[in-house]
Amino acid sequence: MTATPRVFVTRVIPDAGLSLIRQSCRADIWPETLPPSYEILTERTRGADGLLCLITDRIDAALMDAAGPGLKIISQMAVGVDNIDLAAARARGIPVGHTPGVLTEATADLAFALLLAAARRIVEGVEYVRAGKWRTWEPKALLGADLSGATLGIIGLGRIGKAVARRAAGFDMRLIACNPGMPPPEAEAAGVRLVDLDTLLRESDFISIHTPLTAQTRGLINREALSKMKRTAILVNTARGPVIDQDALYESLRDGRIAGAALDVTDPEPLPPDHQLLTLPNAVIVPHIGSASLWTRDQMAIMAAENLLAGLAGQPLPHAVP
Ligand code: GLV
Repeated sequence: MTATPRVFVTRVIPDAGLSLIRQSCRADIWPETLPPSYEILTERTRGADGLLCLITDRIDAALMDAAGPGLKIISQMAVGVDNIDLAAARARGIPVGHTPGVLTEATADLAFALLLAAARRIVEGVEYVRAGKWRTWEPKALLGADLSGATLGIIGLGRIGKAVARRAAGFDMRLIACNPGMPPPEAEAAGVRLVDLDTLLRESDFISIHTPLTAQTRGLINREALSKMKRTAILVNTARGPVIDQDALYESLRDGRIAGAALDVTDPEPLPPDHQLLTLPNAVIVPHIGSASLWTRDQMAIMAAENLLAGLAGQPLPHAVP
């Protein structure tokens, strides 16, 4: 490790992590709210010993080469790393760190908040009151879906999927999941029955997505998959936008072929304010805030800092991307 390593931090992250970095590094911190452009990112990473990045930064082979052979660590403050070319990092011997575990409960909370919001039409209700339409208690207004006894289909039964299952059990939901390769006893221990994707699509009243974005999961919920879902089904996505074919989702929601969707993630992000999905009353969309709780973001910043410092010191990362 050089005496005082130089690192580029691509955004102002919580102090809990930033203060650790400042103690032992010369930290170049991107001060803007919006991420640096790819060109600026490349320029500021050139010659750096370490990089702390976010999901909004594209970290590819060309950037790693521009950084030069001194780049010892790429530390991402997120659990998902689909913005990073992992094969390129591996080929260059650059370890990549991420922040698994600490955001599991916050993300599962948000998935469940979205599920409930869509089921009980919370956003429509809020708009109804604000628009002065609330004139009496109406026997047939704003009727939504029941959770108790309904089937929740979880796509991806990893840490976050299992945390969602724990919450759903408290709402007396029946739980099924699709997770190729998982031994059935592992799912059963979480109170979940493993099924194939087709069965999950056909049987679920609610579907919640918790897969990483990979070549296999990109476009997994396409037109055909949507057509297999119940007309009363509600789709929740707190994973990554491109897992869903968004044009097909728009058509399904518009034509009432499924009942609703609640999305924390979209494709692209941010979703342009004039996007067609935002015209639909049965689409609830929030701006990628799954891990956005005070405690969680502090822990993520600390983990990202610890990974960065370990990488700079040539030590194994406490939380390396497997
Ligand atoms: C956020 O999306 C994350 O991957 O942590």
